[in-house]
Amino acid sequence: MAPPCAIVIFGSTGDLTQRKLLPALFELARHGRMPDRCALVGFARGETDDAAMRARMRQAAAEAVGPGGLDGAAWERFSTTLHACPGAYDDPASFARLKATLDRLDVEHGTQGNRLFYLAIPPSSYAPVVRNLGAAGLVPRGSGRAATGWTRVIIEKPFGHDLASATALNTEISGALSEDQIYRIDHYLGKETVQNIIVLRFGNGIFEPIWNRRYVDRVQITMAETIGIGSRGRFYEEAGAMRDIVQNHLLQVMALVAMEPPVSFDADTVRDEKAKVFKAIRPIPLEEVDRHAVRAQYGPGTVGGAAATGYRGESNVAPDSVTETYVALRLMVDSWRWAGVPFYLRTGKRMPKTLTEVAIRFTRIPHLLFRDLPEEQQRPNELVLRLQPDEGISLSFGAKVPGADLEIRPVTMDFSYAKSFGAEPTPAYERLILDAMKGDASLFIRADGVRETWSVVQPILDAWAARGKAPIPVYPAGSWGPAEADDLMARDHRRWRNT
Ligand code: BG6
Repeated sequence: MAPPCAIVIFGSTGDLTQRKLLPALFELARHGRMPDRCALVGFARGETDDAAMRARMRQAAAEAVGPGGLDGAAWERFSTTLHACPGAYDDPASFARLKATLDRLDVEHGTQGNRLFYLAIPPSSYAPVVRNLGAAGLVPRGSGRAATGWTRVIIEKPFGHDLASATALNTEISGALSEDQIYRIDHYLGKETVQNIIVLRFGNGIFEPIWNRRYVDRVQITMAETIGIGSRGRFYEEAGAMRDIVQNHLLQVMALVAMEPPVSFDADTVRDEKAKVFKAIRPIPLEEVDRHAVRAQYGPGTVGGAAATGYRGESNVAPDSVTETYVALRLMVDSWRWAGVPFYLRTGKRMPKTLTEVAIRFTRIPHLLFRDLPEEQQRPNELVLRLQPDEGISLSFGAKVPGADLEIRPVTMDFSYAKSFGAEPTPAYERLILDAMKGDASLFIRADGVRETWSVVQPILDAWAARGKAPIPVYPAGSWGPAEADDLMARDHRRWRNT
């Protein structure tokens, strides 16, 4: 059980709050996982009073549960903890009012001065909010790990726009907050299947001995989505797939796959190991970017049988935009464990399927015993971690086809979360908010993690930016990406999975 606390959501009228945060908090409450003494404060310019906020939040919760319908009794209990605090992010007087509200709620709800601030706001407002929190005396420095009276701040991605701005943002917020108060969120780390990468590797004896360059030929990490950018054109034009997905979600997953065994499971030890992976990723020289990175943008096409507009036709997107909606990367990790093993990362919007997976391809058998069989019957083994959907893990290997002749066919051993545990995985935001309340920062990103991941992608972003408005490859919506990405693989005599 998390300790008593008040949670303040900056940006409580925004999309993230309505779609993810509020439903996550309500689910935690419904399952009895919220502290028994807690208060939830919505801070936004558009908030008016408690009644209006509760009505709006009820609707958001109902939309999130869908046709099954909202648990009315649970909602009534939960809604008494919701309080509105109208205010502006750059207005010190609003923060003085917030402080008065929180002091009052400490008495009314018994929240003991414990406070979790959630920044679900545009990145340009992160620094002003943190500054104002500091000036109002709301985040006593060094209180992240205090037993009572702790204050912590969850900061959403994107954390910075590039290496320079991320570094500047780290410096700026560390003026008011100590690192133990800063919880930089990457919701991928809250996914059960992503956490299970650590369990698979270090909670079992059989994988770790072969998890290295002697047995692994390559690693492919894919995050594909059928959706386009929807109503997020304005945000996406500034971000692109590299900043939206690769710099954070994909590199975090890669670090869990590639890191050395940590000596313990505490937050800093695990994050130390991840940091070493980021440092070991071979820098890509500017003039070689095209050999290692491909970007592309979706054009018109068909996804799931329906016609889809091209990216340039989406709302709030410039008609001559060169923002990438697809990225493929080839990264090398210069370490004893991984020397010579390429990590291929790929993400795209408007792909034929929505899936996130890690595929570990093992090396070929050293000696072909069944010489007369065609080579494709003796395929290398592959371990595929299906992070979503259809969460599970499968291992492929060759088996003798029953009969008098010798024929080998690939088969799989399959583990499915749904079949084995009969339950849906806990949604990422629920897990992460709970961890932040408990003061467990293991699944959050440390300052050095942000810096290092930006350093990995920065040369590529620079090379692309230097080309200005020069056209970039286009792939039809509903395809697996551009030919250039296939060429990147072909140069290594390899192919993408699923293509
Ligand atoms: C977000 C990105 O971080 O992750 C979105 O901004 C993306 O562009 C989303 O669609 C995907 O998250 P999930 O959990 O649905 O895989």
